[in-house]
Amino acid sequence: MATKLNDAPVGIGSSLSRVDGKLKVTGGARYAAEHPVADLLYGVVVSGAIAKGRVTKLHTEAAMAAPGVVEVVSHLNRPHIAWFDKAYQDQVAPPGSPFRAFYDAEIIYSGQPIALVVGRTFEDARHGASLVQVEYEIDEHETDFERSPEFKPKKTRDTFVEPKNRGDEAGAYAKAEHKVDVSYYLPTEHHNPMEMHATTVQWHGDGRITVYDKTQGSQNVQAYLVGVFGFAKKNVRVLNPYVGGGFGSGLRPQYQVYLATLAAKMLERSVRVVLTRQQMFSFTHRSECRHIIRLGANDDGALQSIYSKAVTPTSRFENYMEPIANWGGQAYRCDNATMDWALTAVDTYTPGDMRAPGAATGMTLFEMALDEMAYETGVDPLALRLTNYSDRDEMMDIPYTSKALREAYQEGAEAFGWSQREAAPRSMRDGSELVGWGMATGIWDAMFQKTTVRAKLSANGHLEVATAGSDIGTGTYTVMTQVAAGALGLPADQVSAVLGDSDLPPSPIEGGSWTAASTGAAVQIACDAVRVKLAKAAAKVDGNPLGGASVDDLRFEDGRMILAADPSKAVGYGEAMTAAGVSEIEATEAAAPGPLESIGEMLGVKKKAKNTHSAIYAEVKVDEELGVVRVTRIVCAVAAGRIVNPKTARSQILGGVVMGIGMALHEETLADHRIGRFMNHNFAEYHIPAHADVLDIDVIFVDEPDSEVSPLGIKGLGEIGIVGTAAAIGNAIFHATGKRVRSLPITIDKLL
Ligand code: MOS
Repeated sequence: MATKLNDAPVGIGSSLSRVDGKLKVTGGARYAAEHPVADLLYGVVVSGAIAKGRVTKLHTEAAMAAPGVVEVVSHLNRPHIAWFDKAYQDQVAPPGSPFRAFYDAEIIYSGQPIALVVGRTFEDARHGASLVQVEYEIDEHETDFERSPEFKPKKTRDTFVEPKNRGDEAGAYAKAEHKVDVSYYLPTEHHNPMEMHATTVQWHGDGRITVYDKTQGSQNVQAYLVGVFGFAKKNVRVLNPYVGGGFGSGLRPQYQVYLATLAAKMLERSVRVVLTRQQMFSFTHRSECRHIIRLGANDDGALQSIYSKAVTPTSRFENYMEPIANWGGQAYRCDNATMDWALTAVDTYTPGDMRAPGAATGMTLFEMALDEMAYETGVDPLALRLTNYSDRDEMMDIPYTSKALREAYQEGAEAFGWSQREAAPRSMRDGSELVGWGMATGIWDAMFQKTTVRAKLSANGHLEVATAGSDIGTGTYTVMTQVAAGALGLPADQVSAVLGDSDLPPSPIEGGSWTAASTGAAVQIACDAVRVKLAKAAAKVDGNPLGGASVDDLRFEDGRMILAADPSKAVGYGEAMTAAGVSEIEATEAAAPGPLESIGEMLGVKKKAKNTHSAIYAEVKVDEELGVVRVTRIVCAVAAGRIVNPKTARSQILGGVVMGIGMALHEETLADHRIGRFMNHNFAEYHIPAHADVLDIDVIFVDEPDSEVSPLGIKGLGEIGIVGTAAAIGNAIFHATGKRVRSLPITIDKLL
């Protein structure tokens, strides 16, 4: 990890370039399928072609006879494993019974893996897989969630808080001067990180396995392999030092790690399984959503009532739900609010978390409905939001630790030039193109999770900070390096951060935008402990030049402890360690929410709300004859507490905004319900923004000091960038064209 790109001063607040940047762009950062392992076999998955039924015949003879094919693993010959006798759910599984591939002949969703062809080379395995023939018995299926009955499961996820309602929504709506009563729709989306899901299992032959997996949590996968296969924990080491994007697809262990390990155990060989881009559409996805929104307001735009109900599909075997309906009722002042939700069960795989799960859907759709109210009342969209502004979490009726959204609205509006907007739709033009300006609000959680970090300072002045967590491309290595370098006054190239190894101190999965706040705090606390030990060691130096000064009386700079009261007195770290007779100083410390806070959060009785906010302004230009939309400008002003690194923070927001452009204009997984299958499972047909779709994006971070949200005042930025962005674009399209499209993405056909 030694790079020499960074010679700027480091510490929290500096724009340190990514410490792993050079490795990433030179191919030196290895992903799960790139770790060299001797005597490796390759597995290629055969995917099922029906939504529901069972395999009646699996013809494997031709595959087995093909050159280089070693085995075809399926329900017919797989070994018996612990999971088949005893249920196991991974750390982030929703309530239910997880899908177990190859358990039996039953098929419960289209694309389900039904065989793994193992070959001496990838090409042998792929050829073999093409020769496997399957006969099915087909049962009736239902994949259209709007044709299945709504229900509310008794058991929800631990993190799901039932929306809290207030006042008399129906009564206030009936009396309201202005009404909006609309139904919005977001389609299914798939995560599609750059790196396909892949696993390399190294079979050591002595009971131990080393598993390189594409995951957002090495220890979640380790626990999963222990629970599913019955391995001893000490025999399973999971590594994910670099991850080519996740967006939530790697929160749960996916079937490739299960199949690679199953084959390795069966054959007692090292095995690698890489999914194809098409197979990336055969597990988790962002659920489609029907969002019913009904708003009542006064003539001045003051909201009198909010009704918000979200219906989403889940699988038949797990009850996955997202908090979608609650956000508008949390964000805006309004005495009467009803938020409701329901699931319907369909014959697909279980949906899962995808970047800002819940808010990316719910806040986006709500903010488009709110824009409708702005036109209904004739109040400027920004003024409408300011009229309904609240300093409190209106749903839980508690204050925020901080909320500088007002500043974000204002700084964003100034940068964008919002005051120059002509109010009426179709009133702004640029040559042959219609110009539209729209805006929206974003809100996301600022979570803090228990994380443990080991800090180790060597006598040569090198500092290593390590935890089992992941860097899914978000910049965790860089954040850790900065916090550590700042704590001990070292240049960045004397600090190395180590991540992605289940043997390292405990860390949660990387998700929920909590990693910078949580891992950052743990690095700081571990480095603080090293400072205490260093100060003690300094007292052993001949003549005790610092006079036994405590850590608070010292400055830690340039590899030395300097007496603050008399800077002529200093002791080098190496000098102190030599005097104390040690070659390194190590401390392992955890950063964790206080016990009361944890229990409070579990019971849903938080004293204060912890959230990030954003104000997004979008300009679109629409070719009236062709219906082509270009998002020419976005200003995203973010209030997210203390910004550790303006450069990597900006990158996170850029990525979120680009994904928001995709949500607004491109991304849509289409099912053919007659065969119960997602059809457009490749990048030719599942569109994401390309370079030509991404023009000017301006990111602003407003000042938001917060001493309560987390120990370092950090809130996290991985997800807020996507929340509301598609709404700002949709609202700009309405402003440009006068056409309100209530079903995303807003494709050309919907505008013509
Ligand atoms: Mo995020 S959806 O928690 O990876």
